[in-house]
Amino acid sequence: MSDYWRRKYEDAFAQFADACGARAFGLGRHALAILLKALDVNPGDKVGVCAFTCLAVVEAVKVCQAIPVYLDIDEHLCIDPQEILIQDRGSFKAVILQHTFGNPGRLEQNLSACNKIGAKIIEDCAHTLDCEWGSEWNERKLGTFGEGAVHPGGMLTVNSSRLLEKVDRQIERLALPTSAKSELLPAFLRMLYHPFSQSRLDCFLGYNYSRLRGLLRSRGSSFLKSDWPPLPGFSRLSGETKAKAGLKKLENWQKLQQTRLQNTAMIEEHFKDAGLSLCPRQPQAQSPKGANMTLMRYPLRVYKKWEKVHRAGIRGLDIAGWYNSPVHPLTGDDLTKVNYQEGSCPRAEGTIERLIHLPTGPSLNKHKLEEMIRIINGFF
Ligand SMILES: Cc1ncc(COP(=O)(O)O)c(C=O)c1O
Repeated sequence: MSDYWRRKYEDAFAQFADACGARAFGLGRHALAILLKALDVNPGDKVGVCAFTCLAVVEAVKVCQAIPVYLDIDEHLCIDPQEILIQDRGSFKAVILQHTFGNPGRLEQNLSACNKIGAKIIEDCAHTLDCEWGSEWNERKLGTFGEGAVHPGGMLTVNSSRLLEKVDRQIERLALPTSAKSELLPAFLRMLYHPFSQSRLDCFLGYNYSRLRGLLRSRGSSFLKSDWPPLPGFSRLSGETKAKAGLKKLENWQKLQQTRLQNTAMIEEHFKDAGLSLCPRQPQAQSPKGANMTLMRYPLRVYKKWEKVHRAGIRGLDIAGWYNSPVHPLTGDDLTKVNYQEGSCPRAEGTIERLIHLPTGPSLNKHKLEEMIRIINGFF
């Protein structure tokens, strides 16, 4: 029975994303691990990742016993193409191009840099959906430029039937069906602590939950409790509840997309009036064909970042500061365990010190935005 809904969701998503095929998993990291294996990423292989990312991405690389290599970011918060170009040809098995907050950055240059060094391309579309990019790309959807992509909610898409067969072979070999725990716990955590928070109460709870986690961590508990989990059994397929919720989201997406575009325009208008800097865009994103680029979050660099995040949190306003490290939420020794050397990506580290971001979804309205701008400007 659960297979029926999962397959229905996968078919609908593949059509929606213009992909050759889709497979739905419990989490994005489950999908990414299977995709890496299907692309023949083997123990000891190097995989390029954005140095402004989260543990989910790196965990997938590590469970394949591959080595994440961190590539510093540009002003779009995406991989700087120069960082790929300086690598030796054949040195990376794959590069994960993360479209941070929905912005694919210098996509064209990154694609050509990956091709030059012979790295397979994976798109991380966890922050984006139905986002088309640039007239030169003939309005192709993000997620269709590489071999395959991961999308919000653990969806994997591939762009060739050959790769789909390989993905299915890896699913048969490595993935488990869903369990009640793997469906319900993530759903609960998402409700509390998620970039798509809705109400002031959600934001307030989410803010305090993340502070509590930070507090526990500083008392010695670690996000990396033990060795990496064994690969067979790491990935779980999506269950029925999640598949049904995913189908519903697809139905409502057009409306959400419209809201995000309107809110992005509202943020830009208010930021301009308040003298705050606007998010850098590629020229294509401003052209009529690229004008439907959707941002999940609107980034901004500020001074006294944590003071502002705190002031917003206690008022139930969704000004967020993640990622808090190049591999969020890891710090100190935990970063070394995932092969990140402090100081190795100075632009990412400098950005993290100052970056905050605002929601673009339905939780935002004019009144909340004006309150957020007062906090950003230091009026309270
Ligand atoms: C950049 C990025 N990639 C992938 C993921 C997928 O994470 P998860 O395994 O928690 O679904 C996330 C989650 O927010 C993310 O921010």
